[in-house]
Amino acid sequence: MGFNQKLTLSVAVLLFINQSSCLNNGLGKTPAMGWNTWNKYNCDISEDIIKQNAKKIVDLGLDKIGYVYINIDDCWQLADRDANGNVQADLTKFPNGMMAVGDYIHTLGLKFGIYSSAGTQTCQGKAGSLGFEKQDAQYYSNIGADYLKYDNCFNQGVQGKKRYTDMRDALNSTGRPIYYSICSWGTENIWEWGAETGNSWRTTLDIENFWASVKFNFNFNAQLADYSGSGSWNDPDMLEIGNNNLTIFEEKSHFALWCFLKAPLILGNDLVNMGPEVLAIISNQYLIDVNQNSVAQARCIMNCQQKSQVYHTQVHGNYPYDAILVMNWDNKEKSSVMIDFMTLGLAQYAYDKCDVFDMWAGSLIGTYQGRYFVNNVLPHNNVALKIQCKSFTAKDFLTSKSLLQ
Ligand SMILES: *[C@@H]1O[C@H](CO)[C@@H](O)[C@H](O)[C@H]1NC(C)=O
Ligand SMILES: *[C@@H]1O[C@H](CO)[C@@H](O)[C@H](O)[C@H]1NC(C)=O
Repeated sequence: MGFNQKLTLSVAVLLFINQSSCLNNGLGKTPAMGWNTWNKYNCDISEDIIKQNAKKIVDLGLDKIGYVYINIDDCWQLADRDANGNVQADLTKFPNGMMAVGDYIHTLGLKFGIYSSAGTQTCQGKAGSLGFEKQDAQYYSNIGADYLKYDNCFNQGVQGKKRYTDMRDALNSTGRPIYYSICSWGTENIWEWGAETGNSWRTTLDIENFWASVKFNFNFNAQLADYSGSGSWNDPDMLEIGNNNLTIFEEKSHFALWCFLKAPLILGNDLVNMGPEVLAIISNQYLIDVNQNSVAQARCIMNCQQKSQVYHTQVHGNYPYDAILVMNWDNKEKSSVMIDFMTLGLAQYAYDKCDVFDMWAGSLIGTYQGRYFVNNVLPHNNVALKIQCKSFTAKDFLTSKSLLQ
């Protein structure tokens, strides 16, 4: 078999695999965006907290830029089921029941997310769904849930693939499209069977509210680009931006890194008391475009073993462009990187003109030929660029100043 035949065959096989084995619930075409209670409130949740944060999403216009899922995490339910085996809402926290919460969220035009564990109990010891998949999926459908985060605590050593597939099938049987967020902590190489099972899958243990954890989760996910695609995403866990332990540079990097990874963007902070710097970070439209307007997870294309890495992805749409992220992982030193357009495959010819746009400043830096020097990136900070190269024409050739000089 010649190289081209082999290539055609493997492309055909890949397409076949993609079409036949992806979870087909029509959701998660782009990574999910929304908000979740856990990172800020842990178990201390209530109907009021959820309503206030949901309302704030709309008041701030965050729904208009994509943040639509309002997800309740652990502790909405009691530890015990009722006499008929039904899961029961904790009425001290949700006096009007879960459907009332869902109704309120839907009235705002948002979507409603619920939580359980593929075990006998949730991580906080509430009733889990192992053995109750059908009954619980029906309950989620009845209360109007649009999203399920399904955790991995108290799993009794039952194989993950079985537990997560059982809930996938139970959700499907309800007939209600429910985004399925697998939270199996990267066990059993979930990325290898994630696409046929869920819309996204956690690849690591829980994120923690400090830089080393952000860095670890990013690096782990960055190696899994082959498994990510429309409808099925690697999930490095929810955002810690606005939870007052990362520096402003670390918060910007956390956001940019998650956008480039095509990670679900699930906010985890108190939106009601959020400061303007945090709001500016999470609503950066250029980075959200990178997350939402293209399919490919970014890959490292330069300095991959060094402290200042360069990540790349392409953004589609009417005006396609290349997105570049220069990340300075060093704890003390500033870093500088030469972005060579041809070497990095951004330009076709050495004399192509490339517009370089700064996503954080929201402005065009200038038009460059050949290369652009990213200078003095501060420790733990990043530079995010849109680069759009225009092919060099014969007319450009005749009038090019750099050639005439
Ligand atoms: C259930 O699965 C089938 C087969 O993949 C799919 O066509 C259908 O859209 C799914 N329904 C829901 C509600 O997810
Ligand atoms: C805040 O970050 C420091 C490290 O920078 C870490 O040791 C500490 O545990 C973090 N605090 C919380 C509440 O996560």
